[in-house]
Amino acid sequence: MDAPTDRTVGIAASPRLAGIPDYEPGLSVADALRRFGVANAVKLASNESPYPPLPEVVAAIADASGALNRYPDGPAGALRRAIAELHGVDTEQVVIGNGSCELILYAGQALLDPGTTLVHADPSFSLYPHLAGAAGAEAIGVPLSSDGGHDLESMAAAVDERTRLVIVCNPNNPSGRYRGASEIEMLLDLVPADVAVLVDEAYFDFVSAPDRGRVMSLARDRENLLVTRTFSKAFGLCGLRIGYGVGGRSWVEAIDRVRQPFNTNALGQAAALTGLEHRGALAERIAETVRERERVAAGVALAGEPFIPSEANFILVGSSDGRSPRGDDGGALHLALLRRGVIVRDGGALGCPGHIRVSIGTPHENDAFLEALPEALDEVGRTSQEDGGQP
Ligand SMILES: Cc1ncc(COP(=O)(O)O)c(C=O)c1O
Repeated sequence: MDAPTDRTVGIAASPRLAGIPDYEPGLSVADALRRFGVANAVKLASNESPYPPLPEVVAAIADASGALNRYPDGPAGALRRAIAELHGVDTEQVVIGNGSCELILYAGQALLDPGTTLVHADPSFSLYPHLAGAAGAEAIGVPLSSDGGHDLESMAAAVDERTRLVIVCNPNNPSGRYRGASEIEMLLDLVPADVAVLVDEAYFDFVSAPDRGRVMSLARDRENLLVTRTFSKAFGLCGLRIGYGVGGRSWVEAIDRVRQPFNTNALGQAAALTGLEHRGALAERIAETVRERERVAAGVALAGEPFIPSEANFILVGSSDGRSPRGDDGGALHLALLRRGVIVRDGGALGCPGHIRVSIGTPHENDAFLEALPEALDEVGRTSQEDGGQP
């Protein structure tokens, strides 16, 4: 019998899918070269590391590839133990994910039901409302404060008897603003002890604040807290998908219940283990990214654009609060930069219309952005604030 060819009849998917926001990926270099006819392009759009993984990590990946006919260690025992040791917790307080995104998605599956709520900041990482949509729950986005950081008191006030999960992104993507550990502790004190709190520290490695790391130490004995981190950024391993969470035992049990048995692959586990052993070698790269972040911020200020001071490996350019750009240019600045071979992220896709988010690359890539920015601003008629912001 011939296979049915009528493509107008689709499968009956769950109506919940309509509640899942679309995800718009950033442009690749190949896309930009093709669509904008430029000879070269630099990609500063996905908050990646501009550096390849350490040579020892590449060697560990090659080594592990010889045994790919075997399933990986399902719970990633060796990596769990190494992370438990690193953070001074028991292995039952550690869970490994296929990227920290997977753990965040698992948190939604494990905790949310129709009729429950998830509280997060807005704008923040676009994945969070997805969790609520997929579960038929409600996402409550609490606007950022006037400094572009989480309004933690309002987030605590948004928690009610329906709330199962509160997510704090620290530093926040896309605003880059960091909240100190004592402020996060205040939120934890305000939230009922049976409401789960997830602190997403994907950009932890780039934080310069002196209290960096203290939220992780709170995860040792706050049962309702899970702190997630990733090997995707400073370790340069986003292509392998590996991240982890540390927190309360009941948190880890809940995630382990929904986790598919072999959720992380053998190469990712080997790379992360070796990366941890050699993490001291990343210090100079991280220091360079932080220095470059400050240099890019100074260049943006010189070009007359407002921005939010960042503790991450990116900067949100366009206003000092992430919400009030000097006019929504409908993505014009993003396009003007693309035409000059610089791929940044259009804020429109991140809940920040009229802004761009620029990732910090190598000094050479950052130079390309800083050279293109004044011309691109001119092209779109955004002039310096000293001129009163009038085109
Ligand atoms: C805030 C935030 N959390 C998590 C992630 C995902 O990281 P991973 O690659 O570990 O899934 C990202 C990625 O860009 C992010 O911006």
